[in-house]
Amino acid sequence: MEKNEEKMNKVIALTKRRGFIYPGSEIYGGLANSWDYGPNGTELKNNIKNEWWKRFVQARQDMVGVDAALIMNPKVWEASGHVGGFNDPLVEDKKTHERYRLDHLLEDAGVENAEGMSLEEMTKKVKELKLKSPKGNELTEPKMFNLMFETYLGPIKDEDNKAYLRPETAQAMFVDFKNIIDTTRQRIPFGVAQIGKAFRNEITTGNFIFRLREFEQMEIEYFIKEEDWEEQFEYWLKEMHGWIEHLGLDKKKVRDYEVPKDELAHYSKRTVDIEYEYPFGTKELYGLAYRTDHDLKNHMEHSGQDLRFRDPYTGERYIPHVVEPTFGVDRTVLAVLVESYAEEEVDGDTRVVMKFPRWVAPVKAAVFPLIKKDEGLVKIAKDVYSAIAPNYNTEYDESGAIGKRYRRHDEIGTPICITVDHQALEDKTITLRERDSMEQIRVPADEIGEVLDKYYAGADFLSLGEKV
Ligand code: GAP
Repeated sequence: MEKNEEKMNKVIALTKRRGFIYPGSEIYGGLANSWDYGPNGTELKNNIKNEWWKRFVQARQDMVGVDAALIMNPKVWEASGHVGGFNDPLVEDKKTHERYRLDHLLEDAGVENAEGMSLEEMTKKVKELKLKSPKGNELTEPKMFNLMFETYLGPIKDEDNKAYLRPETAQAMFVDFKNIIDTTRQRIPFGVAQIGKAFRNEITTGNFIFRLREFEQMEIEYFIKEEDWEEQFEYWLKEMHGWIEHLGLDKKKVRDYEVPKDELAHYSKRTVDIEYEYPFGTKELYGLAYRTDHDLKNHMEHSGQDLRFRDPYTGERYIPHVVEPTFGVDRTVLAVLVESYAEEEVDGDTRVVMKFPRWVAPVKAAVFPLIKKDEGLVKIAKDVYSAIAPNYNTEYDESGAIGKRYRRHDEIGTPICITVDHQALEDKTITLRERDSMEQIRVPADEIGEVLDKYYAGADFLSLGEKV
């Protein structure tokens, strides 16, 4: 097995084994490419979303957040161009009836920039190359397939009641623009952020949680004056890289891909995809797009509402332009998982350890009484647990050999394991063991809250107590 594929399989196995990510609907045989976040995955994902929100919304005066409905008036998607243009080219294997994205098949066959080609150009290429399906069979004529999931509101399934599950969170920030400027004190430049689910009926999914039909986005629409777009674009590109560094992703595995003009989405004048080197290839992690005034202008035309911003100093009214940094949540989780996965030789054994940054780790501390049957140890361990659990996601674990308990927490990336041994009965100190260095220190049991506060504020582990 190729090394990268092996790593991917190991990460997928660990995420199942340790309660990060399960196959969706598994007891019914699963559902193609649907995944459920388990207890540790949910904590990890929430840590990422909360940190993002703190960093980009709460810590900034020029940002506000919204949390809009997933199903919006269908006119939104006509105005945004998604009804007419949010399509992928589809072909079918005439024998097996398996469906493929034609641009992906062409790229696999060595055609460059197939994603930017028109349907006619792709059809011509299929003929030129005598392209077959991956199973070696004839393909059907290519056709365009709209990626939006359709649904019907209420009991009657007709065109009048048709609606869509949103394919991006972005549009709500434009549709709510007037309400936001009327109800906040924001002035251009300012941004609106949203975290939430988006749905796309992708023709092909895969690579675990990389390409999903139901996924989450963290998006910012940053409203600016047209003349400032280049400066703002560069600024947000730097901000995005700052976030990526904060996630602990290796800089060498991250690169900017300037999307060629003929491949740009229908709304964009410039897009940079930030790509990450996943084990299955270097692929899009995030995107930064200059959406011009495309969205507000179109919503103004389609809704008949005045969505211009009025400059309070000059009285000038204009349609703001937009720079959009967009971050996929699931792709972030996947990048963090593969980046953090490590195998190390320790005393002749292999230890698997998830080296998450401290703030990302789903469990912040684990508390173990050395011996389950010793009431004195159990009492101190439970008191320690109660002292820290309100502030830090903490696990109490009293079963199995101590080495096994460490191993389990290494695999879920718990930065600090706390052991209560017999010395605690004499001097009320406990042992802390750090995940990455495997160093140990002793600290007074009643100071554990402060010690963890310092550690999670970034203190060096060995500075926090007496080295064992
Ligand atoms: N509002 C702009 C927008 O939606 P996009 O590049 O289509 O742009 C933004 O999507 C981000 O959403 C991507 O950079 C990626 O992180 C994530 N994303 C897109 N499609 C996805 C899918 N099928 N599965 C998982 N994540 C996806």
